[in-house]
Amino acid sequence: MNKISRREAITGIIGATAGVVTLSANGLASPEQQNAAMAFRGTHQIKPLPFDAAKLKGISEKIVKSHWENNYGGSVKALNVVEQRLAALLKEKDLPAYLYGDLKREELIRTGSVVLHEKYFANLGGNGKADGTALKMIEQWFGSYENWETEFKKTGNALGGGSGWVIMAFSLHTKELHNYWAADHAHNAPFSVPLLLLDMYEHSYHMDYGAAAAKYVDAFMQNVNWEEVNRRVEMAQKISLI
Ligand SMILES: [Fe+2]
Repeated sequence: MNKISRREAITGIIGATAGVVTLSANGLASPEQQNAAMAFRGTHQIKPLPFDAAKLKGISEKIVKSHWENNYGGSVKALNVVEQRLAALLKEKDLPAYLYGDLKREELIRTGSVVLHEKYFANLGGNGKADGTALKMIEQWFGSYENWETEFKKTGNALGGGSGWVIMAFSLHTKELHNYWAADHAHNAPFSVPLLLLDMYEHSYHMDYGAAAAKYVDAFMQNVNWEEVNRRVEMAQKISLI
């Protein structure tokens, strides 16, 4: 018998009591979705990969496509289902609050997965050579690019064999730049703008490198799209002035 996770079990149990609508084959929202309150529409769409998966250095096309389709794509679809079920169950007066809470937790985790993966894929496909406003900010806060890269990679290597994210982020509260460790999709430094994200879940590298996570971290650095990171830095700088 196949084992199912607690998350799958909860979704399955609740799903039995609530109708769920999904996006039609052409990606358009159904009449039910169009009439739902915006928070419950569940109409998130999978964004295309912003680079040619066959052209990354040291990260295979096979793993990029699997990651994009199964892990990221799966989270987009799951988030849509969760939002729709939240709407349906809102009307069920007898539903225990803790069951609603399970779906609210799932909403947070899936939202984190969707956002972090979209940011991750968007900061890949470059030449790996830091420049511009990002490099300037890194040098300001870390003394040198080498110092920053050593810490960023060390944080990634520390997550090898498990799961999580490394997120270089600018805190809008402290107005500081740091490399933050994140245990999962729901674990971010509060009120910070993610500038460069490294996915350290095993699904990002295990097919290519097995348990040798450090090799994946090295390969990731060669593919960073610093143009995209620069755009994010400039956006963070504008927001922090508001
Ligand atoms: Fe991932």
